[in-house]
Amino acid sequence: MDTIEQFNTYVMPSYGRYDLVLEKGQGETAVDENGKEYIDFGSGIGTNSLGYCNEDWVNSICEQAHKIQHTSNYYYTKVQADFAKALCETAGYTDMFFGNSGAEANECAIKIARKYSFDKYGKGRHNIITLVNSFHGRTLCTLSATGQDVFHNYFFPFVDGFINVEANNIDDLRAKLDDTVCAVMFEYIQGEGGVMALEQDFVDEIFRLCAEKDVLTIADEVQTGVGRTGMFLAGDNYGKKADLTTLAKGLAGGIPIGVCLSGEKCSKVLTAGTHGSTFGGNPISCAGGLAVLRKINSPEFLEEVSAKGTYIREKLLTSREVKSVSGIGMMIGIELESKKAGDIVKAALDRGLLLLTAKTKVRLLPPLTITYEEIDKGLAILLDLLNA
Ligand SMILES: Cc1ncc(COP(=O)(O)O)c(C=O)c1O
Repeated sequence: MDTIEQFNTYVMPSYGRYDLVLEKGQGETAVDENGKEYIDFGSGIGTNSLGYCNEDWVNSICEQAHKIQHTSNYYYTKVQADFAKALCETAGYTDMFFGNSGAEANECAIKIARKYSFDKYGKGRHNIITLVNSFHGRTLCTLSATGQDVFHNYFFPFVDGFINVEANNIDDLRAKLDDTVCAVMFEYIQGEGGVMALEQDFVDEIFRLCAEKDVLTIADEVQTGVGRTGMFLAGDNYGKKADLTTLAKGLAGGIPIGVCLSGEKCSKVLTAGTHGSTFGGNPISCAGGLAVLRKINSPEFLEEVSAKGTYIREKLLTSREVKSVSGIGMMIGIELESKKAGDIVKAALDRGLLLLTAKTKVRLLPPLTITYEEIDKGLAILLDLLNA
């Protein structure tokens, strides 16, 4: 039985997968079972922020595995304390909670928002505004939060208490932000929703109204965070700091992690016994996270991410097939004139290039460490396919 057949025999078919079996990778290049190489413009959907097998990252997690791989959250480990300090200081927050995924990070933020409001105002102020076209995860609660009807099927009943507002519609926001609402949750750039950046005015109004009504802001930076936009947080691009910010994907360089960051306002909301996660704060993930922060937490590195994003955008816009390019930094959505994004992704695979889609767009989330040489190689293939 070959790998794909064996996999499909035993694993539930919940993903549409390509016929590609990846075996290893180095830097920005992945290699399949047959030795064919692929330039990776998707980085495992933004997880392999330092590319494949970055040396400092590998050493960091291997050293940690040799010391202690896990312990329960009844005890402390130094690597967790070190990572928590480094992350809070880098992101400009005072406190954090450790989970294992983006959905878990968002669940945590939702629980904090509801408890913050319950502790202060009692029952009845539990609604959370999320945006139409958002994506917040696959657990029942985060699916319920997700503002896309296509996800609201089969699994009834969904979790109550989410109200959708149209992205960038200030009137809709004003009309729905009533005294039943405890938080507004949003992605600065809707990733799965088609790499759509929110408008500054709309973001300004979210923060203004929330401050006025003591409603919490929750920034889902699972996809936009950790240097992706050329700033450590996408909120920095907007000059905003949400009360709660969630991170996951690229945070540990390709091993599971999800965190919810909070400022002082919410730092004491979760008390002993109110939330938990067995693997949350896994020492190996924390060691991976420390290696990621060591690499990306410098103005020069982040400027380089922006510069590479600009470079890619300019090159893409030379193609007649490119109608528009959206996103910020190295979070890039490509709207096509006539071709289908899915067809481009499949054709690119044959040519040795890994791409993503987001709705009808081709989406690029290259490793943050990608070199100009690799960018050029990947773009040559992509532009060739677009211009064909
Ligand atoms: C903005 C956003 N939030 C949450 C999630 C869910 O993250 P995870 O799949 O790690 O649970 C995703 C995943 O794509 C995401 O893009």
